[in-house]
Amino acid sequence: MTNVSVHPAWLPAGAWRPIGSRRVRVDVSGTVRDEIEAACAAHGGELTDAGADLTLRLSETGHDGYAITRAEHGTTVTAATHAGLLHGLFAVVRMGESAFTPGPRVDSAPAFPRRMLDHWDNIDVHPVMGQVERGYAGGSLFWSAGTLRAADLPRIGDYARLLAGVGINAVALNNVNVHATEARLLTDRLPEMVLLAQVFRRYGIRVHLAVTFAAPMLLGGLDTADPLDPAVRAWWAMTLAGVCELIPDFGGVLVKADSEGRPGPFAYGRTHADGANMLAEALAPHGGTVHWRAFVYDHRQDWRDRSTDRARAAHDHFTPLDGAFADNVIVQVKHGPMDFQPREPVSPVLAAMPRTRLALELQATQEYTGQQRHVCYLAPMWSEILAFRPRGDDGPPIAGTVAEMVAVANTGDDPFWTGHPLAQANLYAFGRLAWDPTLAPGEILDEWITLTFEPDDGTREALHAIMDGSWRTYESYTAPLGVGFMVRPGHHYGPDVDGYEYTPWGTYHFADRDGVGVDRTVASGTGFAGLYPYPWDRVFESLTDCPDELLLFMHHVPYTHVLRSGRTVIQHIYDTHFDGVAAVEAMRERWRRLRIAPDVHARVAALLDEQVRSAIEWRDQINTYFFRKSGIGDAHGRMIY
Ligand code: GCU
Repeated sequence: MTNVSVHPAWLPAGAWRPIGSRRVRVDVSGTVRDEIEAACAAHGGELTDAGADLTLRLSETGHDGYAITRAEHGTTVTAATHAGLLHGLFAVVRMGESAFTPGPRVDSAPAFPRRMLDHWDNIDVHPVMGQVERGYAGGSLFWSAGTLRAADLPRIGDYARLLAGVGINAVALNNVNVHATEARLLTDRLPEMVLLAQVFRRYGIRVHLAVTFAAPMLLGGLDTADPLDPAVRAWWAMTLAGVCELIPDFGGVLVKADSEGRPGPFAYGRTHADGANMLAEALAPHGGTVHWRAFVYDHRQDWRDRSTDRARAAHDHFTPLDGAFADNVIVQVKHGPMDFQPREPVSPVLAAMPRTRLALELQATQEYTGQQRHVCYLAPMWSEILAFRPRGDDGPPIAGTVAEMVAVANTGDDPFWTGHPLAQANLYAFGRLAWDPTLAPGEILDEWITLTFEPDDGTREALHAIMDGSWRTYESYTAPLGVGFMVRPGHHYGPDVDGYEYTPWGTYHFADRDGVGVDRTVASGTGFAGLYPYPWDRVFESLTDCPDELLLFMHHVPYTHVLRSGRTVIQHIYDTHFDGVAAVEAMRERWRRLRIAPDVHARVAALLDEQVRSAIEWRDQINTYFFRKSGIGDAHGRMIY
């Protein structure tokens, strides 16, 4: 696809919203000046050398954000870096008219120095996963059927601007599952990375590369990848020096090792710190970072074995290594202990490695939250995670514990960028939360609605009604009370209650005629609840104190167990599944009455039809399954099959 039109719904990231015919002076020299001028011009600004409404100027701000001063004679954005100036310009775009009326100085610094997006893009079309693993927005923006989309570099530039518009400053370009062709991005296919790096650099974004731990064998002809072997270390040092020579601002490498079949240091009896530190040593002279994923568990588990608990795995593998990682290693931890379910407790790893720099990994791509066919605004979930205080009210929140935030990208070559046009709000929200994790999800959504639709009050209200609570709605009609999974194996879309129950993947619900849920208590279960510091260890251990939404994650209970809400588990299941479908039907109705761009309207309307169909399927399968297991009818006598 070469001539992809820039769709109006691309507006949300603030990248194309006109700042009106303002006169803009760019007091900057160097390579980035062109980009800043182009960005200004794209916003309708008229460039000038003389008196201006908006001036962009480099100055010492003391941080890598920006300041905006608004005076009678004009507005000035100052920043210490070119990237900061760009972020300041985008902030002006977000502020709209109010950026040009005198007011208090706006001073904004990002909470996290690196705000990163991980693409799970493949170069070759993978026989099962396709061009983008867990991608729901068309093909890759970067590669198509084995080749770089060189003709689409301008569109990739638009994408880079979109990301810069929400404050993102790092991207990993390829899938964490590094297959044979993608491994070669380190060597003979490096020129593709170089081209992409040039495009992203213009917007202050550094590129990172997912690498396979077996690269010295696969590419270097060595007979081992042992991280303590001198020849292996020399190969990595030489190879990464070669990358950094061509990409001087190379961000570093991202590694999925000893996970779901990927090679790693365990094969050599080495630790993950040994593996990560080898790469860190190779990158240190060049200013690069190793992102080492903590998503390590046994995916060949025996479902008959009740003592192995996948939820414990990252904690068991990584916390003994706290303090052992080099300074330029970031251990990247999924937000929950399992795998991006719509509801999980916050991973205990995030509270257990005070001497290690951790990244919080979120999944913007909606693998388990409706696959960009369902409306599911994820910022409320992410805000809850960021605000969670593992040590109780007196301790720091997760936002104050982790060193950076990473999200798996939800974008692709779809004209709306994210498949479902409303899924753009998740990309937008990720960037905004990574800049300021205290922003309220509703406010972020309001910004996005303003930038995208320039709506009247009715439209704004309707969009909030559709999106604000959409994550909880999704939760209500899928797997109940935090038990997770119950999705169709493989592609993970739609219900299949027992789909994973007798598989090796470690994702079980243990439903029988008497009850459901996983006993993760210290007293009688896997001990997972005890991995949290006080008070959460006690809260999760206790059947009476455990929050309802996580009850079945932590406990195995009878269907007649009474929740904190006062309802029984079985009645909760029925009620939430009926209510969930009703909520989706109401969403569809609100959308039907909206007057917005016809192509956006039509796309979302079609997807809402699918969401209603799918929610009904979830409702009927979950309700029927539990009715048949428990033999307990619905207190309200509704139809259960
Ligand atoms: C999930 C997902 C995989 C992915 C993995 C990961 O299990 O289904 O496609 O590779 O997470 O995060 O590495």
